[in-house]
Amino acid sequence: MTRTNAPIITIDGPSGSGKGTVSRAVAHTLGWALLDSGALYRLVALAGRKAGVDLGDGQGLAALATGLDIRFGANPAGGEQIWLDGQDVSNAIRTEEAGNDASRVAVLLPVREALLERQRRFVAAPGLVADGRDMGTVVFPQAQLKIFLIAEPGERALRRYKQLKEKGLPASLPRLSEDIAERDRRDASRAVSPLRASADAVVLDSTGMTIDAVVARIMQLAKDRL
Ligand code: C5P
Repeated sequence: MTRTNAPIITIDGPSGSGKGTVSRAVAHTLGWALLDSGALYRLVALAGRKAGVDLGDGQGLAALATGLDIRFGANPAGGEQIWLDGQDVSNAIRTEEAGNDASRVAVLLPVREALLERQRRFVAAPGLVADGRDMGTVVFPQAQLKIFLIAEPGERALRRYKQLKEKGLPASLPRLSEDIAERDRRDASRAVSPLRASADAVVLDSTGMTIDAVVARIMQLAKDRL
């Protein structure tokens, strides 16, 4: 199977909808590769901060994004590990501040264009699960299965809170609720690649569902479609 015809499942949706966890589990179950596209935006923002590039400077950040040395891997415990220019930034990119920075640089067209080809290079046999905001609409419009995962804002804030606490990172629930609302607004209202479900996506509301139930539902859809 060539890179271009390997099957793709896209999982898009707003912050805290459980996309990350669900995508990882689906990729693991199928034995497929995983693209965490949000991590790329977080890495560009972090690299921008480190290099002293203004987070509104699209051209400057795009130039930086093109040359970034990014490596995805796993630590011995099976958790995610991400290196930027040889430095372990796994925790640094997961803070709420890094998420907000990412959503700021994600509105810039030059940054999105700079990351497009890098994202498409993740396609590999036997298949790819791509997690993000515009995977089904822009990056992989040809995907065989597109999921748009949603959940009520209150539940998303609570999930995020638990996730951060588990990682030993600082978190405040009221602050997270505000951040999620602000990020939803920015992601949905931006001119380039706004957060929206592709017309051919299956919208899945995970409010009140366990991760296992969401994964099982997607696996069923994958079995029917692929
Ligand atoms: O998914 P995650 O929370 O890591 O994404 C961080 C930010 O990156 C999002 O709030 C969004 O603004 C941006 N993003 C994007 N397009 C993607 C993935 C993430 O604009 N495909």
